[in-house]
Amino acid sequence: MAFQSQLRIPGPTPLPDRVVRSMSRPMIDHRGAEFAAILAEITAGARRVFKTKSDLLLLTSSGTGGLESAVANLVSPGEQVVVALCGNFGERFAALAAAYGADVVRLEFEWGRPVDPDDLAVVLERHPNAHVVLLTHNETSTGLTNPLRELARVARSAERIVVVDGVSSISSIDIETDAWGIDVAVSGSQKGWMAPPGLALVSVSDRAWAQQAKARSPRFYFDWKEAKTWAEKGMTPFTPAMPVAFALQEGLRMLEEEGLDNVYERHARLARATQAGLEALGFQLFAREGYRSNTVTSAVPPHGLDVAALRKLLDTRYGVVIAGGQGKMTGKMVRVGHLGAVAEGDVVQVIWAIEQVLEELDIAPADGRGVAAVTASVQGVTAAAR
Ligand SMILES: Cc1ncc(COP(=O)(O)O)c(C=O)c1O
Repeated sequence: MAFQSQLRIPGPTPLPDRVVRSMSRPMIDHRGAEFAAILAEITAGARRVFKTKSDLLLLTSSGTGGLESAVANLVSPGEQVVVALCGNFGERFAALAAAYGADVVRLEFEWGRPVDPDDLAVVLERHPNAHVVLLTHNETSTGLTNPLRELARVARSAERIVVVDGVSSISSIDIETDAWGIDVAVSGSQKGWMAPPGLALVSVSDRAWAQQAKARSPRFYFDWKEAKTWAEKGMTPFTPAMPVAFALQEGLRMLEEEGLDNVYERHARLARATQAGLEALGFQLFAREGYRSNTVTSAVPPHGLDVAALRKLLDTRYGVVIAGGQGKMTGKMVRVGHLGAVAEGDVVQVIWAIEQVLEELDIAPADGRGVAAVTASVQGVTAAAR
């Protein structure tokens, strides 16, 4: 019997009490001074997280809306676009560009492997007319973080517009939007920001604005120019997801109170602990070593373990909700989210519950080795810090 679900999926993430309370208030005029102040605070805070001085637009949509806005504002039908992909979200980015009539040039890597910057350089050289490059920072479907700094450097030095899907990374994993030469970065409120789904955050560089002026895809709801014009008046063009804005404001305050470097270090610590726990339980980590994500861990279960049965028992017996595989990895993988308002005890809980279920399913005895591995991982870090 669990009294509250432990949401260990890679988003939506658990909401801290403070964030929940921030939404428990009446609606306000979205064209009034109070909302203008909230929008200003969110924009300034998000700029600090993105590490950008560029425009930061707040769109009412999930993360995909932010990504769609990038394609709608930057790409013209028939134009070549390079998409570097190594998982389901990269696939989706490619499909999105294709839906807008782009001629998609795919640079594809096996799932679980990162995009290689040298290969990106070759593809860009071969496609001089592809002005826009679409990259995925954190590939949530495989639990892998791409070498974004190098990829962006390659694309920038080839004078392309660099667009980054940072939906499941930004605010949990460091990104230096301006310093790394990223023109457009996109995130979503329901990830490390500790807010519910409903707002996309999009940074737009001057180079991206110049491209925007030339691009000819149809756009209306996601027209960046409209968003910027209204933002300068302290508003959004259309009615914003107001409760999510209240929550995002509070989530940002919490990120700043903890300190961004501490937030990143906590995510790294929790990733290592989750990896240690799953490996001790006989799971095989899916993403290549050196590129494993700090926000989500993907792992192939021990032989004979039915992922659907595991997830069902975790949920019904222990109230622990984890994700399965996506696309071609459906049924073959588990994904444990550890982003946002997550701490060491939460990792202990999910690993402990998995261990109990393994015993129940006759896969392995629950002898405490998963939890011991998590503890050793956490204590190793603590001891090193002393
Ligand atoms: C890397 C990545 N891109 C895009 C998305 C899609 O975001 P949304 O579901 O908010 O539209 C997600 C969601 O999990 C994601 O992790």
